[in-house]
Amino acid sequence: MTHFKKKYHTYKTLIERRLAHCVTKSEPVSLYAPLKYILSGGGKRIRPMLILLSCEAVGGKVRDALHAAVAIEIVHNFTLVHDDIMDNAASRRGRPTIHIKWDENVAILVGDELVALAYRELLKTQSPVIARVVEIFTEGVVEVCEGQAYDKEFETQKNVSLNDYLLMIGKKTGKLVAVASEIGAVIGGGTAAEIRALKSYGTLLGRAFQIQDDLLDVVADEKEFGKAIGGDIVEGKKTFLLIEALRRARGADKKLLHSIIANHDAPPKADEPEAQNAARIGDVREIYHRYGVIEEARRLITRDTVRANRCLQALKPSSARAMLYSFSEMLLNRNY
Ligand code: IPE
Ligand code: IPE
Ligand code: MG
Ligand code: MG
Ligand code: MG
Repeated sequence: MTHFKKKYHTYKTLIERRLAHCVTKSEPVSLYAPLKYILSGGGKRIRPMLILLSCEAVGGKVRDALHAAVAIEIVHNFTLVHDDIMDNAASRRGRPTIHIKWDENVAILVGDELVALAYRELLKTQSPVIARVVEIFTEGVVEVCEGQAYDKEFETQKNVSLNDYLLMIGKKTGKLVAVASEIGAVIGGGTAAEIRALKSYGTLLGRAFQIQDDLLDVVADEKEFGKAIGGDIVEGKKTFLLIEALRRARGADKKLLHSIIANHDAPPKADEPEAQNAARIGDVREIYHRYGVIEEARRLITRDTVRANRCLQALKPSSARAMLYSFSEMLLNRNY
């Protein structure tokens, strides 16, 4: 195993042990059973990892950033639970989503409690900069909500530009990644320039991360991805791929792409026969390939990752900085 993989595994184990300790109660069962289910269900843990690595990269101690790391993972899980209701998603991390395994009311409440648990954890941070950390964290949660609102609004909007899309993903996904690298740098006692550099690194990496998530929705292996393939197509999401394909396609191809844009009057997509959905996903995937938008997505993901890495040049060379370069590479090559 490489040094990077070993350290990633060590930090992941540390985060997950702490996560498990955040929930000691088991009653009411309808709240705590699904809550433990989501927190222990795996995931890449990239946001807490980024907090820890950013903290180290400016010379800070991992233990000082641990509460914040756990807090950001909890809040991320809150966004996932509610996102899956909003996106009619039946699986995540290879398992049924909470609103499917239990029901929507359970999922709403689990999300509510996760926000409270996140703040309970965050506020345990012992640091002279705690007020600033809480402010950054809170602004992150606010922007995720805004991004999610745009994401839903865009489903039924015909003309969503690439710029609209980039603003939307910057909020729903990029912001929390940027918050992670910024908070790590702040807790670690980074200089203003170091904090700025790490925040930019997170912003660019977070943007690439969502474009890649859009791409994986179409090209990943379902088992490995842990989420249903083509979920964005079925839901009529304005992904990078759809926006770019709509711009390039002509004739019947364009017509087909327009037909996947959600129509409020249509019956719920999830109720459609499985075979019908699968055929539509296949057709759209074929169009994406033929118009080169899959390639274009890959190009953008690589470009943003290279730009993100450039921000790291503002940091002193260290093993933690080397970890961040490897972290970028891991994300770039991920299949889930
Ligand atoms: C999923 O986030 C939601 C997006 C922002 C694309 P992750 O891909 O980080 O999900 P987990 O936590 O690893 O499952
Ligand atoms: C993720 O967007 C945004 C948030 C969870 C805030 P997606 O809806 O694309 O994420 P997945 O694909 O369901 O994980
Ligand atoms: Mg979503
Ligand atoms: Mg979703
Ligand atoms: Mg997605």
